[in-house]
Amino acid sequence: MQTVESQLQRDQVAPDLRELVLTLLQASKTIADKVRRGALAGVLGSAAQQNVQGETQKKLDVIANDILKQALLASGQVRALASEEEDQVVAGNAGGPYVVAFDPLDGSSNIDINAQIGTIFTVYRALDVAPDSPAQFAQPGRAQVCAGYVLYGPSTQLALTTGGPSRLYTLDSDGQYWLTEPELTIAPDCQEYAINISNQRHWAPDTQAYIQALQAGSEGARGKDFNMRWNGAMVGDVHRVLVRGGIFLYPANTQSNIHNGKLRLLYEANPMAMLVEQAGGKASSGVQRILEVQPEHLHQRVPVILGASNEVDEFTAARR
Ligand code: AHG
Ligand code: MN
Ligand code: MN
Repeated sequence: MQTVESQLQRDQVAPDLRELVLTLLQASKTIADKVRRGALAGVLGSAAQQNVQGETQKKLDVIANDILKQALLASGQVRALASEEEDQVVAGNAGGPYVVAFDPLDGSSNIDINAQIGTIFTVYRALDVAPDSPAQFAQPGRAQVCAGYVLYGPSTQLALTTGGPSRLYTLDSDGQYWLTEPELTIAPDCQEYAINISNQRHWAPDTQAYIQALQAGSEGARGKDFNMRWNGAMVGDVHRVLVRGGIFLYPANTQSNIHNGKLRLLYEANPMAMLVEQAGGKASSGVQRILEVQPEHLHQRVPVILGASNEVDEFTAARR
């Protein structure tokens, strides 16, 4: 079995990128330790302050953000970082070759109920503009050099791609991430979907029709039954899709404050889209490939439909 370090060498990942990934993973182990200890580590509950998106931060949102930020800024590899919990771009080492964006703690509403949460991250090459310029992150998702997440579940697992296959690693008590699934593969067809059904009345008519067809099961036009799961943490839902297939949707919404859905392009949709595509799946905004979306704002939202390729095609075909 390979450690993540030796696998990155085998994959001929550039030494500076390897070092950066290991810095991220070192921080993830500190977070995993606090998550595991929960109330005993004093990490549950609200931080009683809001982030730039008007969401009330949990203590662990702030703690995870600080751990990642400090680790990345201490490494020489990072010219800038962006985070769900930082209003603006944070400047790093002016000579650093990479920029990093992250969702330090995905699934915040799961923290206090001891359910799946995670850290999502993405790496781009730094651009020749000011380190703290938002332009550093105005790169479409197809320019990502590395994308991944750490899932803090019953096991702590890392899903990672550096442009090749999406690989899955599991953290052992020796502090090493070991390669446990060398090549995640999403089957093109599926019988399981994930969507927050409570938003149904706010979806566009074609989205409503698509979900109704899944619900009609074998008696309906699709001619097969579909199961439904919703974790309330994208990281858990996408993990399930990567491991056993399915489709995950956070579609456009007619409510004006979330008309592009809820998920953020830079540090949620893009890294997950890369992992899904490198596992043979598809990731769409409903109108285009997520990895082709040109970012306009740091915290911009985008509708997300990802997973089994034929099923994502069914969704987009239903819109025409
Ligand atoms: P975050 O905790 O980083 O703000 O992200 C939460 C996101 C995502 O993880 C999940 O898929 C979605 O919110 C859940 O939304 P609902 O509240 O509609 O279930
Ligand atoms: Mn999130
Ligand atoms: Mn978050």
